[in-house]
Amino acid sequence: MAASVPTVATTRAPWWRDAAIYQLYLRSFADSDGDGIGDLDGLRARLSHLSRLGVDGLWLNPCYPSPGVDHGYDVADYQDVDPLYGGLPAFEAMLAEAHAAGLRVLMDLVPNHCSAAHPWFVEALAAPAGSPARDRFIFRTGRGSAPPNNWRSVFGGPAWTRVGDTDQWYLHSFDPSQPDFNWRSPDVVEYFDDILRFWFDRGVDGIRIDVAHMMVKHAELPDWAFPADGSAAYNEYAQNQPEVHDIMRRWRSVAAAYDRDLTLIGEIWVPTVEDLARYLRPDELNQAFYFDLLQCRWSGPAFGASIERGLATIAATGASVTWTLANHDVHRSVTRYGLVRSVNGSSADPFSDGVRGRGEVDVALGAQRARAALLLVLGLPGSVYLYQGEELGLPEVLDLPDSARQDPIFRRSGGTEYGRDGCRVPLPWVASGPTFGFSSGAAWLPQPSWFGDYAVEAQWADPSSTLRLHARALELRRSLLDVVGAAPLSWLAAREDVLAYRRGPLTVVTVFGDEPFAVPAGWGTVALCSSSAWTEGAPLPGNSSAWLLA
Ligand code: NOJ
Repeated sequence: MAASVPTVATTRAPWWRDAAIYQLYLRSFADSDGDGIGDLDGLRARLSHLSRLGVDGLWLNPCYPSPGVDHGYDVADYQDVDPLYGGLPAFEAMLAEAHAAGLRVLMDLVPNHCSAAHPWFVEALAAPAGSPARDRFIFRTGRGSAPPNNWRSVFGGPAWTRVGDTDQWYLHSFDPSQPDFNWRSPDVVEYFDDILRFWFDRGVDGIRIDVAHMMVKHAELPDWAFPADGSAAYNEYAQNQPEVHDIMRRWRSVAAAYDRDLTLIGEIWVPTVEDLARYLRPDELNQAFYFDLLQCRWSGPAFGASIERGLATIAATGASVTWTLANHDVHRSVTRYGLVRSVNGSSADPFSDGVRGRGEVDVALGAQRARAALLLVLGLPGSVYLYQGEELGLPEVLDLPDSARQDPIFRRSGGTEYGRDGCRVPLPWVASGPTFGFSSGAAWLPQPSWFGDYAVEAQWADPSSTLRLHARALELRRSLLDVVGAAPLSWLAAREDVLAYRRGPLTVVTVFGDEPFAVPAGWGTVALCSSSAWTEGAPLPGNSSAWLLA
């Protein structure tokens, strides 16, 4: 069936420009010590999963010492690893083995805020108003019994918490246990230079920067004109301030002092792709996740326009686009693309709140579409991040018992939002057993009984599985990289619900509608199809993608 595949040694540089990276949510990957929480020895024992999958490396979600209110995004010590995960020795052992297996390792750094348990914040609370210790954070005087301004926390509720019964309040863009640093303080700036060097000195290959766009706030902290209807709104004063780019430049020069190909990749949610591109200027970040595509509903024109926007705007900076269809903050792609009716979205567009919306999900349809989206994205120029569990086609676990939910979003929204626990449920490794091979204890989030149907072991044994599709696509992608790497992307004319692009010998076709699509003669021979129902010579089924080789 498959046309012959060109095989050329991959000697490209820098490695991250077209890498496929696995986002590893450590506490849900594999547990080695039976406490029900994934850890570094568990990861080390399962690194072969990543090698066999065929990714180039992994981005490790935060594993620093932390009270764990936001599962590690509340850091108490930036230069250590939590004993819960095995401590620094376990990290170093994992890093060495990953490198020996040819896998790069990216660390997650959280510079916008720390944990309230961080010694600096403990010191600040004990220090008087106006003291240098408080200047490392954002403390202000309230307006009577009201906070200093009207900003809202991303997790719901006000972005300020009052210090005891004083007139002082501190800013937290997320949970009250995550105080925001004051990036206008030289102490903070220098502290993070040291942290970057600490991890680069240990050998990590790059840093993922948590909410990089939020690090600097408007100097005056003015009220923001939120819409009167109470709907969520982007507060421009709390993020994307011009001075944040000075920090990006500074960090780039810290990384440039190393004689290695290091990457700085930003998590940046800004209103336009033009805003995003400003973080990718040649002396700023190497990469930034392209969330524009992640937020698209399942539609050919929507996907086509987003891809085009990304390629045109980001390529102009000299950077490559960093594609991703899922992460630990949004509903899984199967569930998003299978959402056929939303209960809390606008009636005009059932997908308007699709990244975390509630509603009726057609899981089988979503699974087909997620497989199709994978092939569409893996053929594009640039790098790709694949979130843990997506390779298994896991749907979001929407029916977790409320008592099991741990995400602060669930609590702070008074239960009106599910939050993000449903995409963080521990992986099923085998089809049966109390935790499907994840842990010898009780998993920190309960796995539903149907998780066994998605087990890693069973999927490796099934040639039509989503896991095997990922492995085959990544293998083919790697073998094609040198051939298609420099080839410009050109769109091919097709039906409105069909996207088709060509890069050198590779043609990628995605059918967004339900109607089958007969591939025109001359487009090439099908090397890979996302639909296991497709047979050679037949039209491509609806909701599927294919890779064709000339
Ligand atoms: C973005 C992270 O991806 C998310 O998980 C976290 O809750 C917030 N930043 C706060 O650190």
